[in-house]
Amino acid sequence: MINPGRPRNQSRSTRSMPFSGLEYADPKKKGNLIGKILLAAALTALCIIMLKQSPSFNTTNVFSKHEEGVTHVLVTGGAGYIGSHAALRLLKDKYRVTIVDNLSRGNLGAVKVLQELFPEPGRLQFIYADLGDAKAVNKIFSENAFDAVIHFAAVAYVGESTLDPLKYYHNITSNTLVVLESMAAKGVKTLIYSSTCATYGEPEKMPITEETPQVPINPYGKAKKMAEDIILDFSKNSDMGVMILRYFNVIGSDPEGRLGEAPRPELRNHGRISGACFDAARGIINGLKVKGTDYSTADGTCVRDYIDVNDLVDAHVKALERAKPSKVGIYNVGTGKGRSVKEFVEACKKATAADIKVDFEPRRPGDYAEVYSDPTKIRRELNWTATHTDLQESLKIAWRWQKAHRDGYGST
Ligand SMILES: NC(=O)c1ccc[n+]([C@@H]2O[C@H](COP(=O)([O-])OP(=O)(O)OC[C@H]3O[C@@H](n4cnc5c(N)ncnc54)[C@H](O)[C@@H]3O)[C@@H](O)[C@H]2O)c1
Repeated sequence: MINPGRPRNQSRSTRSMPFSGLEYADPKKKGNLIGKILLAAALTALCIIMLKQSPSFNTTNVFSKHEEGVTHVLVTGGAGYIGSHAALRLLKDKYRVTIVDNLSRGNLGAVKVLQELFPEPGRLQFIYADLGDAKAVNKIFSENAFDAVIHFAAVAYVGESTLDPLKYYHNITSNTLVVLESMAAKGVKTLIYSSTCATYGEPEKMPITEETPQVPINPYGKAKKMAEDIILDFSKNSDMGVMILRYFNVIGSDPEGRLGEAPRPELRNHGRISGACFDAARGIINGLKVKGTDYSTADGTCVRDYIDVNDLVDAHVKALERAKPSKVGIYNVGTGKGRSVKEFVEACKKATAADIKVDFEPRRPGDYAEVYSDPTKIRRELNWTATHTDLQESLKIAWRWQKAHRDGYGST
């Protein structure tokens, strides 16, 4: 199903050409023409026969029908960092996967990796579409028989959200409404929603539990909180099974080196701490700037909860397995342990073996001192616990991929 760039111009221009000579054709040429038409008809028939015999011919049909024993999951944003890792795990676990992504921030290279790993018909299809296009989304839901949706697709940079808030409300809140409406219309019964600790804002008490009041302080967090509210209001009168997962700071990548985090170069300025560390290690930027050394934390720098993407994906699979009709589950997904920026930078230096220059600067407005989760609820109810908690090891794995993919997926 990969077909993001059909060369439309080419087919139009060739289609219009033959008509120009027809009116003045002589009988000889007419004979030629009939011969050509017959040849074309024969070739077309041959192509259809060959296509029907090819193993992938029935792919569309397979995706459009529910099949006993097979769970078909729509992964929105599956060409992105977390979505691609989730798709890999789902495919390994024998789920049928449809990825919908507009590639605004994701990478077709990630989808290609997945397709090469799972080429069998009926395993994975990619649909290039924008979730803001309700007509396109409805069509996707009409043509495919989904059993569940994992809704990752979003723009996801706090800094960018303060500069362009409408983009965030549109892309996160409004698009979630579009997805939910299509799910309701087509009776798709399970939704796993990607939310974030940014919905909590700056709580007074640590660690953050699911009961901690949600008072987001930036448009990204607010847009996600609104999307959560829409889902929760809808679920009150619906038999949909809903799981809302609020992730903390995601790091790491596939231990086998097939996938990684490859944000687009234009997003570098909004980047996350791990991206900045790797960029510094590669000499793309001139070292790291740690903003704020006078917070009331053990070493004065901000503290965050870093969750490895492999653990995060595992939480999604557990949520998917345990989702029940008419039930809502809300879970923090974090390690429960805060790590300071200084600790992170030290781990990154060791993981990359690079002598990263670090400048300590005054605080950046809007940063909060400490954020870490209480993962008790998800451990108790979903039997999930973070296992990849060695920061240096997670960064080492991610660094291996970064080193081998200097231009992200562009070089694969
Ligand atoms: N990375 C983190 O630390 C983190 C933390 C908390 C929550 N999250 C959430 O996890 C989800 C995935 O984040 P990520 O880090 O993988 O980001 P990402 O940018 O790597 O992936 C997002 C994907 O969504 C796609 N997308 C965006 N808008 C779309 C649209 N309108 N239509 C179709 N596709 C669209 C992008 O092209 C991209 O492939 C997001 O919802 C994000 O808010 C991420």
